[in-house]
Amino acid sequence: MKSDSSRFAFQACITPGCGGQYAIDEAHVACAKCGGLLDVNYEWDRVPVPKSLREFEARWNNRRNPLDFSGVWRFRELLPFAPPEAVVTIGEGQTILQRSESVGRYVGMRPGNLFLQYEGLNPSGSFKDNGMTAAATHARMVGAKTAACASTGNTSASLAIFASTTGLLRVVVFVGSGKIAYGKLSQALDYGALTVQIQGDFDDALARVREVCSRLNIYLCNSVNPLRLEGQKAIMYRVLESLEWQPPDWIVVPGGNLGNSSAFGKAFSELKHLGLIDRIPRLAVINADGSNTLYRLHEKQGVRWNDGHLDHPAIDTFYSEMDAEGRRAATLATAIQINRPVNLVKCLRALDICDGVVREVSDQEILDGKAQAGAGGFGCEPASGASIAGAKRLREEGVIAPSERVVCILTGHGLKDPNVTVAYHAAESGKADKSARFANRPIAVENDLEQIVSALRKFA
Ligand code: F0G
Repeated sequence: MKSDSSRFAFQACITPGCGGQYAIDEAHVACAKCGGLLDVNYEWDRVPVPKSLREFEARWNNRRNPLDFSGVWRFRELLPFAPPEAVVTIGEGQTILQRSESVGRYVGMRPGNLFLQYEGLNPSGSFKDNGMTAAATHARMVGAKTAACASTGNTSASLAIFASTTGLLRVVVFVGSGKIAYGKLSQALDYGALTVQIQGDFDDALARVREVCSRLNIYLCNSVNPLRLEGQKAIMYRVLESLEWQPPDWIVVPGGNLGNSSAFGKAFSELKHLGLIDRIPRLAVINADGSNTLYRLHEKQGVRWNDGHLDHPAIDTFYSEMDAEGRRAATLATAIQINRPVNLVKCLRALDICDGVVREVSDQEILDGKAQAGAGGFGCEPASGASIAGAKRLREEGVIAPSERVVCILTGHGLKDPNVTVAYHAAESGKADKSARFANRPIAVENDLEQIVSALRKFA
């Protein structure tokens, strides 16, 4: 399908001096010249972009048009790579940003300054649907019939739901064996995706799926696909929309394969370039301490974007030492259990654009942050708890001031990984984990009215 957008949208290598460029109607997951990551770029002076972000509000009362209903495509002028008739949407992005006083108190903010962006409300229960609508649209533009991804669980659930609801694609998902939360695995199976559990972890699965896609000419939907990240920019558009188009001071997001952070940096850099915002928020990317490649490289070794002239030898040495020592990522937050984040270089660029910082937090801090979100009504999966734990850490360090406005991204729904939640709250009271500070322990009673009443009196 030749698109109108092919006149002003194209794919370009991000490596300085490479100059690799590809048409928007082609599928690429790396630069054919240098192997670098690709961006989707636009000749913005030829795109009919609104003069003010407020103009997008006109679409709020047009919910019968699926493109205006979508929380991604109602901002279509900011990701103008697809003709409207090619768009594949399942109503993604109906998510909310909500002030949370209880989580704000926990983090150490002044009242009214802590917001949660609840991406668990997406059709497949995670933020991935923002990117998958763009990838599925592009797959349609290039005429793909089969799509694949490797996943820690949410990407596969998202790809599977897009395939099953639209019937446009056959789908193969690769997951590491035993590394995936059951809620996510159940989705891939239920939505009918061909599910391949390979021996190994996410990094192994991703390496293999890249080979498989190239050999069998299958459309790859991981975040090395630059179209995915175009869709994920919309999470930031909705944050701005909810804050009446005023940028917050901080965006705090868990870091795994680093697609989200990369997309957020691109979104803000474009909005600034277009004169649609006057200030770019600071970005905090939070690693689990058992899966902390970005933290080590950025904070410990000082690796920076440096206008694209990165210290590649430092990164290569880091990875060879990781392999030589047999270090493998290990965290209860399986969504972000990743050794070699594929978007590392783009994320370093985003950190540069957003004057960003990286922190690592322990699994215990992640689970406590998650419990705080849940107690405030925002059930999220462990990885999402990292953003709350990270915000708290940065407050304690004084990097975030209590008077600043902070948005924590809750990336996935609480029902994705109920095992971790139940283990934290300790269903089997005898085995209660004492380190779970906010555990809501169930009480065991005989099936006897008097005993139940007497147990409840203690709470009444
Ligand atoms: N939070 C959740 C719930 C995730 O599923 C992921 C990534 C992340 C955070 C990290 O986001 O990769 O953009 O830095 N999940 C991928 C998957 C890897 O396969 O579902 P990122």
